[in-house]
This record gives sequence, C-alpha cells and structure tokens, in this order.
Amino acid sequence: MSDPDLVLGIESSCDEMAAAVVRRGREIVASVVHGQAEVHRPYGGVVPELASRDHVRAVSRVVGAALERAGLESEALDAVAVTAGPGLVGSLLVGLSFGKALAYRLGIPVVGVHHVAGHLASAELADDALRAPYVGLVVSGAHTALYRVREAAPPLLLGETRDDAVGEAFDKVARLLRLPYPGGPSVSAAALRGDPRAVAFPRPLAGEPGLEFSFSGLKTAVAIEVERRAGGRPLPAAAVADLAASFEAAAVDVLVARARRALAGARPARLAVVGGVAANRRLRERMQAAAREDAFEVVFPPPDLCTDNAAMIAAAGFALLVRGERHGMSLNSFSRIPIGATLGASPALE
Ligand code: KG4
Ligand code: ZN
Repeated sequence: MSDPDLVLGIESSCDEMAAAVVRRGREIVASVVHGQAEVHRPYGGVVPELASRDHVRAVSRVVGAALERAGLESEALDAVAVTAGPGLVGSLLVGLSFGKALAYRLGIPVVGVHHVAGHLASAELADDALRAPYVGLVVSGAHTALYRVREAAPPLLLGETRDDAVGEAFDKVARLLRLPYPGGPSVSAAALRGDPRAVAFPRPLAGEPGLEFSFSGLKTAVAIEVERRAGGRPLPAAAVADLAASFEAAAVDVLVARARRALAGARPARLAVVGGVAANRRLRERMQAAAREDAFEVVFPPPDLCTDNAAMIAAAGFALLVRGERHGMSLNSFSRIPIGATLGASPALE
C-alpha cells in the first residue's frame, strides 16, 4: 500500500474520548475532544470505571463528529490509528475496540500508538518545520520524562520521574489547597494572584547529575506547609494563591533545569515540550527565557494539542504506517508498555 493520506486517530487512554482526521501526518482536518470533568469532579480525580462507561456512551458520537467536521464519509479514510497504551485498560479498550471494528469494516489498516509517542508527535503537528532529531520533554498527568526523538526509530528515553508525574503533583496540590478539579489549570490560575517567592519549596534533583525527576518530596513539602498554616481549616485566598505560586515556581524550575541539562551538548539544540502541563503559562515563559539564554530552539504546541487529543495519535500513527507497521485485529491494549515495544502481530500472522 502507498503511504496513507487520511488517518483517523482515536484516543481514550484516560478521561478524554477524542477523534481526529489528519492528512499526511501533519495537517489537522478535524479534531474533536469529549472531556469528562463533570463526571469525576465530585471525586476529585479520575474514577476508572466511570471513565470507561462514559467512553462507551461517547465513542461513536465523537468519531462521527470528527468525520462530519472533516466533511468526510468513513470510506474516505486510509487507516486508523488508536492509542494502545499506556493508560487505564478499561478506557483504552473502548477506543481500541471501536477503531479495530471500523478498520475491519472498511478493510483498511489499523495501528496501535503509544500514548507518549502521540504526545511527542504533537510538536510536529504544531510546527511543520520541526524534524527529528530533537529533545522531547513530556510533562503530563501520568508522565514526566525526557526523550531523544529520532528519525525512523522509536524515541529514546533519557530520564524519567522516579515517583510522581509533574501533572499528578499539580493535581494533588490542587486537592490540598481545595481548588476545583481538574487541578493543573486551577493551581496555575490561583498562582497568577500569588507570590512565587512566598515559600521556598525544594527543587528536587534540579542541580544533580543525570536526567531523572522527582516530585513526591515537593508535594509532601506543600502538604506540610498547608497543615502548618491551616491546621485542617480552609486557608484564606491570599495564602492559597501564595502556596500555588510557590509550588508552581518550584515545579517549573525543576523542569527547566532538567531540560537545560538535556540540551547541553545536544546537536541540533532543539526542544519540544509536550503533554498537559506544557499548557502551563509559567513553564512556557521560563523555558522560553532559558532557550534565549542557552541558545536552543523550543517548540510548545498550542494548549489544545498539549492536553490529550486524537490528532497527535493520528500523527504518530502516520509515522508508523509510513514505516510499514500494521497491527491488525490481534492488537491489544496495555496499561503499561515501553515506548518502543512492538504492538500486535505482523500482518503475515493475521
Ligand atoms: O496530557 P494530559 O491531558 O493527560 C495525560 O496524559 O496525563 O495531561 C493532564 C495533566 C493533568 O495533570 C493536568 O492537571 C495538567 O496536565 N495540566 C496542567 C495545566 N493544564 C493541564 N498543569 C499545569 N498547568 C496547566 N495549565
Ligand atoms: Zn496524555
């Protein structure tokens, strides 16, 4: 088969059901994201069983909406790319099963995409001129890691978090400060009104060798400070703003310091920052300032490509299809899976 033109992407690894049509891996024809914030808000976090049930209700409508916005019938599609992992298995299975069934009905190939490879591809969707090799910093609710993004080979892990992901730390700090779900955006909104120097929170590993991260100590430091100040009662708004700003400043400092370290000596000196936390304003500003100082290039996708979406899955899937990968009906979903892992059987075994 020649390279596919129109790829349908489907993403359902956590609490977003998303579908998108992308042309030749670069041009977003249509992208639809159905979030579930209202489903999980009463619980202050994602409830896996509720997430997968909502996906079952949404999947057909979301894929239909993406095709309608693209002005296409499903018969116009050349391939389906669907997130196969990592993520919540119940959630993943909904998008995966739908994607496989659609590909089977249309007689077109299906490929499984690693969710983090999808996030990395979002940078190339955002910047048409961006080409591997470059350094990718993935900052999301489940991942915090640096990769060397290579041409025609899976991304190479340079270092990742030893404990919590940075987005998870944002979400936990939101709960400690009694800020509304989802946590990341509400912490950064509160931080705008606060003093980032109010509390000198730790910057874990920032100056140390290696390219790993750690956020659990920072989260605990915030918990101790909240307890010390509030003693179980709600904090005044000014204190919430100061703690949010001080936490955000510490988390951002760590991300910038580790990225600078990864960029030192990298040729070409080029960085893409992707994942939900890449929508954070302070991170964008601080990283751009570091890029000017250290003379590296930095790409941030627009906020709607930072958080989970299916355009990035279609783009990453396109790259796999061009390399000849096809996964077929034996493709499964995986709660944990390394980024370069082979997914599904080769077509010869189908
Ligand atoms: O990439 P994503 O949508 O899902 C995962 O793959 O995890 O990332 C979601 C994470 C959440 O932890 C959310 O709180 C965080 O991204 N996030 C933010 C912002 N917007 C989303 N964190 C900090 N500042 C933001 N503006
Ligand atoms: Zn994600």
